[in-house]
Amino acid sequence: MIGSAKPHELADELIGRAGELAAAVEAGASEVASLDALAELERTVVKGALAEVKKGIKAVDGTDRARVGQALSAAEARAKAAIEVRRHAIAAAQRSEAHERERLDLTALGTGYERGHLHPVTQVWRELEDIFLGLGYQVYYGPEAEDDWHNFEALNFPPGHPARAMQDTLYLEVGEAESTLLRTHTSPCQIRLMESQPPPIYAVMPGRTFRRDTMDARHSPVFHQIEALVVDRNVTMGDLMGTIDVFFRALFGPDIDARFLPSYFPFTEPSAELGVSCPFCERSGCRTCSNTGWIELGGCGMVDPNVFSAVGLDPQEWSGFAFGFGIDRIPLLRNEIDTLHTLLWDNDVRFLNQF
Ligand code: PHE
Repeated sequence: MIGSAKPHELADELIGRAGELAAAVEAGASEVASLDALAELERTVVKGALAEVKKGIKAVDGTDRARVGQALSAAEARAKAAIEVRRHAIAAAQRSEAHERERLDLTALGTGYERGHLHPVTQVWRELEDIFLGLGYQVYYGPEAEDDWHNFEALNFPPGHPARAMQDTLYLEVGEAESTLLRTHTSPCQIRLMESQPPPIYAVMPGRTFRRDTMDARHSPVFHQIEALVVDRNVTMGDLMGTIDVFFRALFGPDIDARFLPSYFPFTEPSAELGVSCPFCERSGCRTCSNTGWIELGGCGMVDPNVFSAVGLDPQEWSGFAFGFGIDRIPLLRNEIDTLHTLLWDNDVRFLNQF
């Protein structure tokens, strides 16, 4: 058919045929899904049918040669481009499929670093400081290693006084026997403060304290206390109770009550035991408060005149109150954790994370 055409007709026919084949390659290429099928398309159409059409150019009239030649080259270029574009697309798809299939999970095992936070005792310690700073108090830290004078003598514990024996003191092998010790309470800070500055004094003194106890549910050889001292003119027991009331409510919330029971401390007179209404049972009695409805936190009282005398203050002129209590039970009470305080020292993050 190609060979029998008239010269000009032949030229148009070749051009038309080449255009159809190029269009067929473009359409076919976009449908094949494998490199093999694409190679087959290239073999039959581009190298087969299209090459065959090109051979027909010999029979074309000389005046049409250039026109036909250009048109056939353009058609061939279209077909080859369609094949190449598709080849790249298929190869890229196969590569990413292979990558996906051969992927190795190189994620490092491990839990990463967790952000820490302050220990519950430290949190309460700082909160206590904040509450008292808000009341206009100063914060004072005394030394943990103390001498007998500050820890006992100036606080009106004379040598051989039975109250000394109640304190289970840890002595240090420094100087004369039993002259240096780890402070058994924060009360020696009262003495240091009165020795170092004149009244009026409004201060809190938090810190670590030490006693010769074996760790169990209720005891620890290291624990924390916070001491408060007020020295001014005409300070009364009412000031003491009012201050504790305000402070307990700031710490535990408005539904809490403070309780004062007559007690004895050598450095306060009168003295009282300081209790808080049980936050677990609202005073109806439970295991935590041993069915009393109250939890003991510490002691308080009016500064004993002998203490003023020991630091050179005139007991006729100055009056004051002091209180001191343990910090460690507070995070447990406030979070209603009816459990052993040893959890605070174990440093098990599963427990500590909850605060
Ligand atoms: N220091 C006493 C104790 O550790 C508590 C206390 C402090 C009592 C201040 C009265 C005044 O038990």
